Amino acid sequence: MTDQFGRSIDYLRISITDRCNLHCFYCMPHDVPLLQHADILRYEEIVRLVRIAASLGITKVRITGGEPLVRKGCADLVRMLRDIPEITTIALTTNGVLLPDALPELVRAGLNAVNISLDTLRPERFAAITGQDVMPNWRALLRDCVQAGLKTKTNTVLLRENREEWENIAALAQELPISVRFIEQMPLGRGQIGKDGDAEQVLRLLRRRWSDLQPVQTQDASAPARYYRSEQLIGQVGLIAPMTHRFCRTCNRVRLTSTGQLKPCLSYGIHNDLRGLLRTGKSDDALREVMRQSIYHKPKTHCFGSNQTDAERQTMNRIGG
Ligand code: GTP
Ligand code: 5AD
Ligand code: SF4
Repeated sequence: MTDQFGRSIDYLRISITDRCNLHCFYCMPHDVPLLQHADILRYEEIVRLVRIAASLGITKVRITGGEPLVRKGCADLVRMLRDIPEITTIALTTNGVLLPDALPELVRAGLNAVNISLDTLRPERFAAITGQDVMPNWRALLRDCVQAGLKTKTNTVLLRENREEWENIAALAQELPISVRFIEQMPLGRGQIGKDGDAEQVLRLLRRRWSDLQPVQTQDASAPARYYRSEQLIGQVGLIAPMTHRFCRTCNRVRLTSTGQLKPCLSYGIHNDLRGLLRTGKSDDALREVMRQSIYHKPKTHCFGSNQTDAERQTMNRIGG
């Protein structure tokens, strides 16, 4: 369906847990309070909501967290979503730690795409950023994802701590047909606005090594990332610049939090309590109407960087990015 500004909304991001096996300092500090299990939607409840959302035009879903793979049965959810005929793409955003073990079953269940957080290639730095000494073997993992037929992307948040690695991280796209993306920090969780670097800086740096880096001609206008290719890359590099290049004009997405709140934009506290409606026995039609209203009234653009402080803005581990 289209919202009040004519944007076509066909993408639902679903956070299935606020828990994570890592504690990236910019996202989920150790002291964030965790939700109770009873507050989290059951998979059957999520699937019912996705069926209704599909009847409003949602065709792509992305499963997020926290870390979605810490919740048992994530592949079962993928399988259940696969049975919804209108859903053509099922993607997952993960920190990668549990992915090597989970990958075969996720693929069998029908997963199409994976985005993996990759802030550093160095084990000591990984431990310093995440608080856990469990860095995956990135190259093997990314190769396995590609070989399994998944569309594979990485996410590097621009940090002072990983600046010296930006070039080496981008060079993964020289070895593998993946999209290596760099993300400006957003003021969610402990993140601070573009604190440690912005997209232009990354592009300038990468062009010193790949001087022919050019924007890809056929970009998906509704995706936050802008992609660049070079003759020397078999993959591509991408820049996600919410702070310096607002992409809200073409936004195509809404979010469902693990507690069943429909969030029309990640930057605001605004949400509609679908769980409350589900659990008080409301009909599909009633739920559909609330979704329709929420999507229609999606804000025009984010409120990061304005003086507006949104007291109810949630931490990133509850929103799922
Ligand atoms: P695809 O386009 O489906 O690959 O998804 P994505 O790149 O948006 O998803 P991913 O979960 O990998 O998120 C990458 C980064 O983009 C994270 O930092 C997200 O918080 C950010 N992001 C995703 N969607 C939005 C959005 O609608 N607005 C803003 N400001 N940031 C977003
Ligand atoms: N700003 C930008 N990106 C963030 N992520 C987590 N917190 C922030 C933030 N404050 C990223 C993660 C992950 C993706 C889902 O969101 O690193 O790759
Ligand atoms: Fe859409 Fe909000 Fe993201 Fe902007 S910040 S792209 S409006 S979800």
